[in-house]
Amino acid sequence: MERNVSARQIQDLAKAALQARETRARAPISGYTVGAALLAQDGRVFLAGNIECYGQTPSICAERVALFKAVSEGCDRFAALAVCGGEENQPPQVHCTPCGICRQVLSQFCPPDMMVYCVKTPDDIQAHRLDELLPFAWSRTDT
Ligand code: THU
Repeated sequence: MERNVSARQIQDLAKAALQARETRARAPISGYTVGAALLAQDGRVFLAGNIECYGQTPSICAERVALFKAVSEGCDRFAALAVCGGEENQPPQVHCTPCGICRQVLSQFCPPDMMVYCVKTPDDIQAHRLDELLPFAWSRTDT
């Protein structure tokens, strides 16, 4: 597939993120649920929700769950990410963007020009390049 992502694929990815938010997020502490859908270059889609743990420290964002699922399955070439979030059992009120920690982790594994789709509805999506979300990302190789 490489990284040419069609308008149809973007909308499908947005729907997948919204669905993942409803079915996979576990947010008993904050009541704020997030869904992520990570499209790999080979066409696979990795779905995740945020997972909160009592004691907070081990809690993890949806984006990193999706990314770590993919990497641990041997997948490390990515084409696009869709993310959505908001108060549990309510539709997203804003275009939820990845947090700073997720931006750094994504920048390690994904191409700097990869698009991140911040979803309110399948027809209301804000698109950002990863290196727009995290300019001057730290990297060991300075590439
Ligand atoms: N959260 C995410 O999963 N992704 C983000 O990009 C922002 C925040 C989660 C973390 C925490 O479980 C909840 O949303 C907010 O408290």
